[in-house]
Amino acid sequence: MNKWIKRTGTGVLALTGCCAVALLAAAQYGERKMDRQITVSVPEIPYRTDTASVERGRYLFRSRGCVECHGTNGAGKDVVNDGKGMLVHAPNITPSPDSVVAGYTADDWTRTLRHGIKPNSRPAIVMPSEDYARFTDVDLASLVGYLRQMPPAPGGGAQIEFPLVVRALYGAGLVKDAAERIDHALPAAAPVPAAATPEHGAYVANSCLGCHGTALSGGTIPGAPPDWPAAANLTPGAGSALVRYSTAESFTAMFRSGKRPDGSAISGVMPFTSLKEMNDTDVQALYIYLKTLPARSTGQP
Ligand code: HEC
Ligand code: HEC
Repeated sequence: MNKWIKRTGTGVLALTGCCAVALLAAAQYGERKMDRQITVSVPEIPYRTDTASVERGRYLFRSRGCVECHGTNGAGKDVVNDGKGMLVHAPNITPSPDSVVAGYTADDWTRTLRHGIKPNSRPAIVMPSEDYARFTDVDLASLVGYLRQMPPAPGGGAQIEFPLVVRALYGAGLVKDAAERIDHALPAAAPVPAAATPEHGAYVANSCLGCHGTALSGGTIPGAPPDWPAAANLTPGAGSALVRYSTAESFTAMFRSGKRPDGSAISGVMPFTSLKEMNDTDVQALYIYLKTLPARSTGQP
């Protein structure tokens, strides 16, 4: 193990020097890392099937990013396919017989969504479970309740292909999967009433962490394709994007339109298909919460 860590560490240094041997070693380690087995025990969270819960689940599915990768009908789609060796196809997650979730138990849902671990104990790749790890038990059960009653759609499993460099960065630990980033020992988030409060805003902001960072200070998104811009700093510190939004209304208008107050378009990397669906209470709570964050400069942890 130590030997591997040492070799990987060397790989990081040598990457910049383009040492082919170190690159290959790190890439090989990346492949082994994708294949590692992780075990966590999860509490039993029974599905919720009543109408109100299924409606809540539908709202979460549409507003928390799932549609960006799995499609509005849940059939799965290409997330990235650059024709140069980078292919990420998110799987079908509707209850059709050829879907990866066809044999899912309640525990499988909890492990995938909250921990980023698939039923075969392997890490889910690209799937941003760190954004969903803090779902309350009720929200998790409602989301699963909704997914299980979706109309079955045709569509197969995931396809994940990374170029050598990305495998090497993953092997060297510079790109992490969700299971590595999640604190698996954290208890489920305690429910707070949905209202325009910083407490509720902090809960909603869990779905921004994967891109804007755990401190929400933005910066380069690890493992992102090279044409993606850096994520904006959402704290009030140096380089903050919040200076453009002096009211909750202007912030909400940006979520709905994908445009800044000066009319310029924000990169489509921001998941506007989902953010548009977010209700006013959630967006206002987010805004209020972001205003309470300690100031950090862009990218500061
Ligand atoms: C950024 C894209 C992205 C987003 C957002 C996303 N997923 Fe995924 N999801 C993926 C990819 C890619 C995989 C395949 C992972 C793998 O096989 O390693 C996946 C896999 C899954 C799986 C199957 C895991 C298995 O057993 O193979 C489920 C279930 C799932 N996602 C549900 C969801 C739900 C529900 C949401 C929203 C709360 C969501 N995903 C959001 C990309 C995404
Ligand atoms: C898939 C990654 C991703 C997710 C998830 C995401 N963002 Fe972003 N966000 C970005 C990127 C990239 C930019 C920079 C866009 C640009 O420079 O055009 C950005 C920019 C922004 C901006 C600055 C807009 C401006 O005026 O320039 C705000 C505010 C923001 N995001 C808020 C949020 C909030 C709040 C959430 C969670 C609800 C969120 N984002 C989720 C990637 C993401």
